[in-house]
Amino acid sequence: MARWPLAPVLAHRCGGALAPENTLAGLAAAAALGCGGVEFDVMLSGSGSPVLIHDETLERTTDGRGCVPETSDDRLRQLDAGRWFGEQFAGERIPMLDETARRCIALGLSANLEIKPSPGTDEVTGRVVANAAWSLWASADVPPLLSSFSVEALSAAAKAAPGLQRGLLVEQLPAGWLERCSSVGAVALHADARYLSHDAVLEVRGSGLRLAAYTVNDPVRARELFGWGVDCVITDRPDLVRAPDS
Ligand code: G3P
Ligand code: MG
Repeated sequence: MARWPLAPVLAHRCGGALAPENTLAGLAAAAALGCGGVEFDVMLSGSGSPVLIHDETLERTTDGRGCVPETSDDRLRQLDAGRWFGEQFAGERIPMLDETARRCIALGLSANLEIKPSPGTDEVTGRVVANAAWSLWASADVPPLLSSFSVEALSAAAKAAPGLQRGLLVEQLPAGWLERCSSVGAVALHADARYLSHDAVLEVRGSGLRLAAYTVNDPVRARELFGWGVDCVITDRPDLVRAPDS
């Protein structure tokens, strides 16, 4: 079986609460803290390119307006994705996946790419992101892991890049979680930490799946989850939440 690629602590949306979400500045912030990895959201632009953004619309995290899947790369590159967070981040751009991959590899950050399809684009987003990730990380020591709430996107990713590991994102553990993971060849479940009990962690880990928990900002809760057997926590506070042995 392929080696588990993710560090025990991943900064959520690149830099968690320390930088504007889904930006290269976030990667720098995570790396500066010695955080071993990052999670970020990937959606297709109007040009069909994988770009880092959480919302389908531009308003919350940029100075643009409108929908990401209707906006060209040229237009996205003009937008400011940092000033909303703080004046010192003015000029940050929406990163393309290719520059993000190069930066993660250079900084030694393991990467969890969350495939975030805009409505109606699950299959194409899964396929394009998986193909891109497979080639962008081809020469890296540690490959990325792809996750998604969308079973359709994960199935498409499995077909396009079977060599990349996958995780199924859920909130509460749904009935049939093991079958759902099997159906997309997922090696991991990524679950909302608010709903994780000790028994649930034991059951998931006992099934042979890896378990990532999001979004854990309390170091005491993170320690508890690691103690129960959680493999990875995704956090907005990579300055506070540390890996078990550090
Ligand atoms: O991948 C875990 C987490 O990022 C899922 O929620 O909405 O922050 O993308 P969201
Ligand atoms: Mg996410």
